[in-house]
Amino acid sequence: MTDRPTTPPDLGTEHVRLAVHDRAATLTLDRPAKLNAVTPEMSRALVQAIEWCDSTDDVRAVVLTGAGDRAFSAGSDISELDRYATPWEFRNRVDYCDAIRAARTPVIAAVNGYALGGGLETALSCDIRVASATASFGAPEITLGWIGGGGMAAFLSRAAGPGNAALMLLTGERIDAARALEWHLVSEVVAPGELLDRAREIAAVIASRAPVAAETAKLNLRAAGNLPEDQALAYERDLQTICFATEDAAEGRRAFAEKRPPVFHKR
Ligand code: COA
Repeated sequence: MTDRPTTPPDLGTEHVRLAVHDRAATLTLDRPAKLNAVTPEMSRALVQAIEWCDSTDDVRAVVLTGAGDRAFSAGSDISELDRYATPWEFRNRVDYCDAIRAARTPVIAAVNGYALGGGLETALSCDIRVASATASFGAPEITLGWIGGGGMAAFLSRAAGPGNAALMLLTGERIDAARALEWHLVSEVVAPGELLDRAREIAAVIASRAPVAAETAKLNLRAAGNLPEDQALAYERDLQTICFATEDAAEGRRAFAEKRPPVFHKR
């Protein structure tokens, strides 16, 4: 694929950066002095960034990472939490984990350090997770007297199993990257200097695939985890039929027959 620089929108904050090359976006939480803790302003920027990535065929995969070498994200900015006027206002906040999960475009977390609280939930909300050997993972909310609310229990127990999730949720203690790999929180652990390259390599492969098929694969995976089996199987057959009917699937079959790489147009 040729190098195609694309200009992303102004996200209204210096603490979230979005760059696009070759149909792969890199979305960076850029507040390293605060371990990339997420403010409401950053939440809104993440929503905007994801919506833009979904809206353009210039982006077919997203890498989400943190700036600096200490943190992916230490979660919600604790100092901002007292600013909500009421618990209801807090409940109805713009949630960055919801934003990541709402992405139709595949998202790969490149976990480069602490993934704590909302930072862990953010990583778990991505489709694929790659970690540096120096990354660590934890749900420290209980040390602050509360619990996570961005899908923590559901996603952590699904990834690590209920017992391991309980150990993390009830103690608030961190696990290292090797343990995270053993517990299936991440797919791969690489040297810190190789993390972004590896995540971008995965993104580039996904970006080269048929985008409608990639989006439907995401829907299908979610359905497989949430629907009763018979409904999940029926839904999968319908999604497969939708893909089957696309121009890109016809191109895939044609390219195979002609022994050449396919060119997909998201149609
Ligand atoms: N919200 C707001 N600020 C945060 C933060 C968060 N979640 N996590 C870290 N920071 C800030 C610290 O307040 C500090 O700011 P300062 O330099 O202005 O004092 C800066 O980031 C660096 O963190 P610091 O605590 O000094 O680093 P450390 O190496 O001593 O400890 C942690 C690292 C991750 C163990 C510690 O920062 C921590 O426990 N953070 C909170 C994690 C958390 O509970 N997340 C869930 C939130 S609901």
